[in-house]
Amino acid sequence: MSNLTVAIGSDHGGFDYKESIIKHLKANNINVIDVGTYSKESCDYPVFAKKVAEKILSKEADKGILICGTGIGMSIAANKIKGIRAALCHDTFSAKATRAHNNSNILCLGQRVIGKYLALDIVDLFLSTKFEGGRHQRRIDMLES
Ligand code: RB5
Repeated sequence: MSNLTVAIGSDHGGFDYKESIIKHLKANNINVIDVGTYSKESCDYPVFAKKVAEKILSKEADKGILICGTGIGMSIAANKIKGIRAALCHDTFSAKATRAHNNSNILCLGQRVIGKYLALDIVDLFLSTKFEGGRHQRRIDMLES
């Protein structure tokens, strides 16, 4: 998983998991771009969804991770941006499947929904699973047209 750059962002509701995930990624030699938020003060999740999406669209980052209380606000916000395929995953099967079939470029997580160690497992699977291409590419192309 090295040579990978991950852009990560959260609102206040996802701040603690953002910090834990950053530590975990760095321990695995993954480059991290932390777009904020930088404290637990109340803030607006669309701001950070946009910042992470921009890092992916500009190719500064290979993948993105967004965390809020539920993961839902982040996934709604990120999926409004053309070229972004954001997947809200709270189980490991979905994390693998969305990479293999949807070539998702952002993982969304809800800090108030799942435990930290499950979140870290989901992150690992999301980052290590390859897109299968083929018929799945055809379907992704249909999303953009
Ligand atoms: C913030 O309280 C909360 O609404 C936000 O983190 C997120 O869950 C929105 O979808």
